[in-house]
Amino acid sequence: MFEIKENISLKNYNTFRIDVKSRFFVECTSSKDIVDFLKTRKSPNLPLLVLGGGSNVLFTQDFDGYILRPSIKGIEIINESDVDITVRVGAGEDWDEFVAYCVERNWGGIENLSLIPGNVGTCPIQNIGAYGVEVKDVISEVETLNLSTLKSVNYKNNECEFAYRDSIFKQKLKGTHIITHVTFKLQKQLVFKLDYGKLKDELKRFDKVNLTNIRQAVIDIRDSKLPKPEEIGNAGSFFKNPVIEKPKAIELLSQYENMPSYDQGMGKVKIPAGWLIEKAGWKGRRIGSTGVHENQALVLVNYGGSSGSEIYKLATEIQKSVKNMFDIDIAMEVNIV
Ligand code: FAD
Ligand code: EPU
Repeated sequence: MFEIKENISLKNYNTFRIDVKSRFFVECTSSKDIVDFLKTRKSPNLPLLVLGGGSNVLFTQDFDGYILRPSIKGIEIINESDVDITVRVGAGEDWDEFVAYCVERNWGGIENLSLIPGNVGTCPIQNIGAYGVEVKDVISEVETLNLSTLKSVNYKNNECEFAYRDSIFKQKLKGTHIITHVTFKLQKQLVFKLDYGKLKDELKRFDKVNLTNIRQAVIDIRDSKLPKPEEIGNAGSFFKNPVIEKPKAIELLSQYENMPSYDQGMGKVKIPAGWLIEKAGWKGRRIGSTGVHENQALVLVNYGGSSGSEIYKLATEIQKSVKNMFDIDIAMEVNIV
């Protein structure tokens, strides 16, 4: 069963804590509920927006349509051997609670992705990543509901078009499919991923390397530099790290020898947008109640009372300023509504 609410404030449903209203708001706890809702809603021509934890959206105005939250729960073991375990998880499970659940059972693969806000159903959309791991490494299948046919359609890992902060769900299937479940293959014979320098350093404080300690080390690093959305409104990295041509990177390195850069192969180099934004003078700047975080320039913040359009305006000014200084375009990672 589901209940359609009207004129709901979205302030508690987005981590930027933007106070806009949605005309309609519905929470569905099963795929059947979603289908029933879609078949019976009174105004099928109004726009529909699927919302998970609201940690990667910026609302710039009231939403004149239906917000649908797929609150489908459940963690189900599909297959298990001595080597690995396959679990199917409802889209509405909290991502970090799922990570903790796996770490407790000694199932490896997502411990580096600890403390990322949001829902399990959203993790494939931008292929969440942190500390040397991307969720594509452990996803075997994504189950969706096609909004036009109301039929379920499953996408195997190799059909999801996963890339850095990208997937088929963020591109071709955006707005046309709802993710209802995600299936993960996790390791029981553990292989730790400790290539990310800061993580390796942080782990030196622990007496041994295991999933619990990796999770704790990741949490500690994140706590030291990322603002907590419960305290300061934000949506994590506002921009993606740009990937540029190697000759351009070499030219920049001759000018800024301390610029961090990561070779991506195929003549491409990734540059941290946080470094570019800091160099352009934005780090820690505050304009009214909107600002650029003092510890991580990639994170835009709402100190309280900002509107989505103020944050969006700041973001476009930062883009222009980085373009002027470095001739590099930085794309927004956050979904603008
Ligand atoms: P939402 O914000 O609710 O939705 C995001 C988009 O997905 C929207 O366009 C929405 O319409 C769509 N959507 C949501 N659910 C569904 C569904 N079931 N089916 C179809 N479409 C859907 N991300 C990283 O990758 N790495 C990080 O390290 C990281 N750190 C963060 C730190 C902080 C403090 C914050 C606030 C965010 C961070 N993020 C990070 C971004 C964010 O947590 C992830 O993108 C997360 O997966 C978003 O999940 P959500 O459920 O909150 O998505
Ligand atoms: N840096 C600066 N100034 C800053 C911020 C960063 O110079 O203000 C430099 C750092 O010194 C470091 C480099 O940039 O040399 C990279 O910084 P960091 O390790 O903090 O990572 P990031 O590239 O800024 C990315 C992800 C994060 C993820 C971390 C850890 C993107 C867009 N962001 O940030 O993801 O948690 O790596 O893996 O890829 C998110 O997507 O919301 C997010 C938080």
